[in-house]
Amino acid sequence: MKNIDNRVMGQDVVFYRTTDSTNTDIGRLAKQGAREGTLVVADMQEAGKGRRGREWISLPGESIYMSLLLRPSCNPDKVSPITLVMALSVVEAIEELEPRNFGIKWPNDVVVNGKKLCGILTEMNMSMESVGKIDYVVVGVGINVNQTSFPNEISKTATSLAIEVGHEVNRCKLIARVMYYFERNYRVFEVTNDLAGLMEKYNGYLLNCQKQVRILDPKGDYEATAIGIDSTGELLVRTNDGQEVKVYAGEVSVRGIYGYV
Ligand code: BTN
Repeated sequence: MKNIDNRVMGQDVVFYRTTDSTNTDIGRLAKQGAREGTLVVADMQEAGKGRRGREWISLPGESIYMSLLLRPSCNPDKVSPITLVMALSVVEAIEELEPRNFGIKWPNDVVVNGKKLCGILTEMNMSMESVGKIDYVVVGVGINVNQTSFPNEISKTATSLAIEVGHEVNRCKLIARVMYYFERNYRVFEVTNDLAGLMEKYNGYLLNCQKQVRILDPKGDYEATAIGIDSTGELLVRTNDGQEVKVYAGEVSVRGIYGYV
């Protein structure tokens, strides 16, 4: 892709008009020895995967469906914040092209006007040769770009860039800018294998910050004020009785008390 001027991220790009899932494609390419930074982009997916086993609707001609291959040397328990590094990179790229108060709903949804614009699904594969080592990580990104409407069941919580900014947005340009920011942010992440060097920037985009949120905890829901993430990417909240509690993304969901954000 001629717009990408990076050393690693997006240096090898594979494009499919149709595929099942770009995350699955990266898995196959990784096993064939593809290098870190390989990017798969598709115009449509027949089996787009969302988080928590959900489907990611992936029609042609309007969205970005892409997956990036990483081969991190860190321990597997350090991988989940990489999703937040990508969320930060997506929001920086969008804000550069179309500045409009885009932000992040913790941990990794990019949101505007209370609606979701981008979802990220990170998957990790362990090495068969050395126990406890990562073979590869796939960071899959779906950005709603040029849709003009959404099916009824998601229209209250989903939006697209075109709906928000009032004109079509060039998908190639946006992909290139996401790769640009991800390369730089990931380099900062790799220094400490956490978000220490990025959390201030991330918290600047965090829409839940200093807002009352509802924590959907399997042990019982409660309300609290969101404070911001720490270096591991966990969300610090202050409960209504004044205690500071860390919320783990894998275990709970967070909602605004008046809606999705
Ligand atoms: C979410 O549920 O919020 C995450 C959605 C991630 C969708 C993207 S689209 C490109 C990549 N390929 C997939 O199958 N899923 C991710």
